[in-house]
Amino acid sequence: MKTVKMAGREVPPIGLGTWNMGDEPRKFDQEVEAIRAGLEHGAQVIDTAEMYGNGNSESLVGHAIKPYKRDDLFLVSKVLPNHASKKQLPISLDQSLKRLQTDYLDLYLLHWKSSISIEETIEALQQAKIQGKIKAWGVSNFDVNDMTALLKLPNGHHCATNQVCYNLADRGIDFDLVPLMEENNIPLMAYTPVARGDRLGNDLTKQKVLIDMANKYNADVFQVLLAWCIRNEQTIAIPQSSNVDHVINNVKSTRIELAEEDLAKIDTIYPKPKTSQPLTVW
Ligand SMILES: NC(=O)c1ccc[n+]([C@@H]2O[C@H](COP(=O)([O-])OP(=O)(O)OC[C@H]3O[C@@H](n4cnc5c(N)ncnc54)[C@H](OP(=O)(O)O)[C@@H]3O)[C@@H](O)[C@H]2O)c1
Repeated sequence: MKTVKMAGREVPPIGLGTWNMGDEPRKFDQEVEAIRAGLEHGAQVIDTAEMYGNGNSESLVGHAIKPYKRDDLFLVSKVLPNHASKKQLPISLDQSLKRLQTDYLDLYLLHWKSSISIEETIEALQQAKIQGKIKAWGVSNFDVNDMTALLKLPNGHHCATNQVCYNLADRGIDFDLVPLMEENNIPLMAYTPVARGDRLGNDLTKQKVLIDMANKYNADVFQVLLAWCIRNEQTIAIPQSSNVDHVINNVKSTRIELAEEDLAKIDTIYPKPKTSQPLTVW
């Protein structure tokens, strides 16, 4: 099975996103079932954040993972930028751990750039690591300049990932951020990897070339989108779904290895950028 080395562990390259989950009591059981279906079919990485539903997503995840061995999971959460100080970050982290009903995170991310100095945030993250409350830390929504600056700082090289928007219709980072991260051996976490199922207006699932390709691989278009995202073995994609069948299909996309000729075909319709692009931030 395909894996990506993330924070010292080999994990499957499709994880489970949980934004907008845990907010509606009537959907709770279905959402728990969706997360568990993902885990049953091989996912290990679960992505959440203190911001999501003001802790509701973390609480949902905490409930969903109860039957599973903690060591088999790879839990990721994120601290809000205005909580990323030496004083507040440990408080936020403890609250996330409580909601997730665990005593450590595998990865803790700074959700986006903060007005608190990154040096101070790194100190707080390193301290949490020493205390054993997190195994590793990383960042999210850092563009190529932010990452370049981060990597020059003392302890900046401990950054385990950068979680950014990446999908076929939004591949601006292929110009400079992806190469920078590859050079520094830092895996990427791709968010919004299925472009929210056409809800962003890209109509990826209606694209004939992608439909034909899906048929060739005995797959659906969502699986092709995900197989494309994780093609370089340095990327973990974290699609979100509250639908059991969708989650299972997403996790199973790790079996698809797109042939060079198909990757080239995709490049002709969704070309690699030729100039630097601003990072999309959701
Ligand atoms: N760090 C950040 O700032 C940031 C920002 C955005 C997102 N994220 C993370 O990344 C995760 C994913 O991103 P996202 O939620 O923006 O977008 P996404 O995963 O691209 O799309 C989610 C939407 O796609 C649908 N979908 C997923 N798989 C499907 C399938 N196989 N067939 C049909 N529909 C499918 C889901 O609907 P159904 O429920 O009906 O399947 C859902 O409405 C988030 O949940 C969050 O954990 C992080």
